[in-house]
Amino acid sequence: MQLPTHVTIKEVGPRDGLQNEKTHLSTTDKVQLVNLLSHTGLNYIEVTSFVHPKWIPQLADAVEVLQAIKRQKNITYAALVPNMRGLERALQAEVDEVSVFMSASESHNQSNINKTIKDTFPIIEEVVTGAKVAHKNVRGYISTVIGCPYEGYIQPEKVLRVTEKLLEMGIDEISLGDTIGVGVPTQVESLLNELLKRYPVEHFAMHFHDTRGTALANILKSIEMGITKFDSALGGLGGCPYAKGASGNVATEDLLYLLDGMGIKTGVEMNKVLEAAFFIEKKLGKIVASKQMAIVRNERSAIQ
Ligand code: HMG
Ligand code: MG
Repeated sequence: MQLPTHVTIKEVGPRDGLQNEKTHLSTTDKVQLVNLLSHTGLNYIEVTSFVHPKWIPQLADAVEVLQAIKRQKNITYAALVPNMRGLERALQAEVDEVSVFMSASESHNQSNINKTIKDTFPIIEEVVTGAKVAHKNVRGYISTVIGCPYEGYIQPEKVLRVTEKLLEMGIDEISLGDTIGVGVPTQVESLLNELLKRYPVEHFAMHFHDTRGTALANILKSIEMGITKFDSALGGLGGCPYAKGASGNVATEDLLYLLDGMGIKTGVEMNKVLEAAFFIEKKLGKIVASKQMAIVRNERSAIQ
């Protein structure tokens, strides 16, 4: 397999991770988490989400968090934005990059953002235009690219249709989300074959939830197909509250173990990611799911 020399890790823990937690962290703790992550070597952190606070109460303090973090020069601090009201709030908080989102499957789109796919396009287009006027890059998430909690397997053509529209709008990068973590490498291959026939690989990042333990296998398949950008969340936190059965993202530290071991550079330091993961574990008052954290936790308790 031809390996890339470098892979970019996009940390989505403060957003995808915290949006699905029963425990609501204080604004101060969220700020501290982002500040810890800012010293790991990551150059992309999705900090929060400007969705409706009633839909995701965990992130209702999005403006306050984004305004209070200590920004590092070479890091992009991004946030999720569903519509113009969200964009207004995100710009007020001086977001660096805007992430719009929708689904490849009609029923998840409806349950997550209360619209049909057709009615979502003009809303996203308005956000993209507004963000570009404000000189912000726009990332576009497509959810349920392999499986939907309501519709089952999703044909790659459905993902292609949404991709076409989003790229036409001038979105810079598409993150393909296996929202409920059902995909396996052969399905990832079919999906990417369909998309890469038409679009350069640089347009795409992958966003794997690890519900069934297939995320790293899917990442390896994606690397084999030329993808070099991956979303992950420290501790393996995450999930979409509007996708039944969705659980954590691939853990940043487990992804890092894989990439470090294969000699692929990321610029991210394992020890510092683990430090941030221990911080969040303590604040959430629960054991996080990552394999690396389990190893270090056992080592630490053996020493004590
Ligand atoms: P809606 O109720 O249809 O909104 O929700 P609306 O446009 O009809 O507006 C209703 C009221 O909400 C209005 O207020 C708006 O101003 C207000 P009123 O005039 O009645 O007083 N409003 C807002 N207030 C604050 N911020 C806003 C906002 N928007 C409207 N942004 C909406 C539509 C999209 C807002 C709602 O469905 C929503 O917030 N959904 C978000 C759900 C969500 O966050 N899901 C998780 C993130 S996606 C994910 O995790 C997947 C991903 O990780 C990739 C993967 O894993 O696949 C990205
Ligand atoms: Mg997600």
